[in-house]
Amino acid sequence: MRFDRSSEYLARAKRIIPVQSQTFSKGWRYFPKGVSPVYVEMGIGPNVYDVDGHCFIDYILGLAPITLGYNYPRVNEAIIKQLEKGILFSLPSPLELELAELLVDIIPCAEMVRFTKTGSEATSAAVKAARAYTGRDMIACCGYHGWHDWYSIITDAFKGIPKSYGDLIYKFEYNDLSTLDYIFKTRPHQIAAVIMEPVNNQPPRDGFLEKVKEMTHRNGAVLIFDEIVTGFRWSLGGAQEFFHVTPDMATFGKGIANGMPLNAVVGKRDIMNEFEWGNNVFFSSTFGGECLSLAAGIATIKEMRDRKTIQHCWKMGQELMDGLNSLGIETVGYPCRPSIVRPFLPKEKALLIQEYIKRGILIHPAFLINICYSHTEEDIDRTIEAMGVALYNVEKATSSGDWSVLEGEIMDSPPFRRS
Ligand SMILES: Cc1ncc(COP(=O)(O)O)c(C=O)c1O
Repeated sequence: MRFDRSSEYLARAKRIIPVQSQTFSKGWRYFPKGVSPVYVEMGIGPNVYDVDGHCFIDYILGLAPITLGYNYPRVNEAIIKQLEKGILFSLPSPLELELAELLVDIIPCAEMVRFTKTGSEATSAAVKAARAYTGRDMIACCGYHGWHDWYSIITDAFKGIPKSYGDLIYKFEYNDLSTLDYIFKTRPHQIAAVIMEPVNNQPPRDGFLEKVKEMTHRNGAVLIFDEIVTGFRWSLGGAQEFFHVTPDMATFGKGIANGMPLNAVVGKRDIMNEFEWGNNVFFSSTFGGECLSLAAGIATIKEMRDRKTIQHCWKMGQELMDGLNSLGIETVGYPCRPSIVRPFLPKEKALLIQEYIKRGILIHPAFLINICYSHTEEDIDRTIEAMGVALYNVEKATSSGDWSVLEGEIMDSPPFRRS
């Protein structure tokens, strides 16, 4: 496998595009160098085609937004139909209303809805509403919530943000209520919101989500579930529906429009009303009501509902987890979004990735696996087979000490560590 075009584009990008990618996690630094695709030009169903003409079964799926599959007919048709009418208008489109009504129908906490383009905007807006509603400034968080200053001050990539922002946000640990309790006790009456990813790859233990909700409300704060990943993967109504814990507000994004840039802030009427005219909360964006994404969102949600696509993803994910576990590649998490946890040394990891890429499989080096409705049993079987050979080659190199099979260069460490 040669990646000449990818290498040529990368060399050009290094001259004019800092980081050479618009998203850290899509950058070439994560992959073993010289043996991985850098640029992709097309996607069909569960597959992507790189600029050198290779086809991969894709488990990155644009970092999760592709829930149905690339080039998905019902969504494409909706986009094309809307394109013929127009992309963006001078007044709101009824599509805003139609999609908002759909979301209110399916998401337990959604009484009102606003749209944004990115997840970072959505979480920022939710936090802003909570601050306005409570008259408090501080935030407790658990998970990743985007690149905006209020949150990214607590990551390694904190430069460029006023230092004082760091005094307004505190991190607690998933499944460890005492860490949230500590934040509330040491900052009484100052926490506006608890924002958290409701689940990641460890299940909530001992009623963790219920207890977080109770503690948040007892302390007069707003509970926000960041469902940008969990939404439309755990269940149609999000993790809040799956776990039967309804927050005050939630953010949804990846998965809402099968790859079109659309996110939503939803929540209880009294808090969402903070965004209402005259309440002095600034939340306004030229592209917030862009119509191709809204049309794609309506088509995506209807397709997920009509065809029960989420159940299919759980089934495919379970088969993949079972297959990988039987090979000795340990997976954890939920079948709708499993992850590989077996510890690999950097050299082993680079060889494993090199070997599965050679066999037409694209899994993100962070080893989080996204499944879409277009993945078939045949794709899953091919993936398990390819992973088996890749693992065998890693184990052979480890036991023999012969690493000449590693053709690529070991990856750099990630450009930032999530807090
Ligand atoms: C849970 C969560 N929240 C927020 C974001 C930020 O979304 P965006 O990258 O669209 O700004 C992400 C992105 O990965 C995310 O995973």
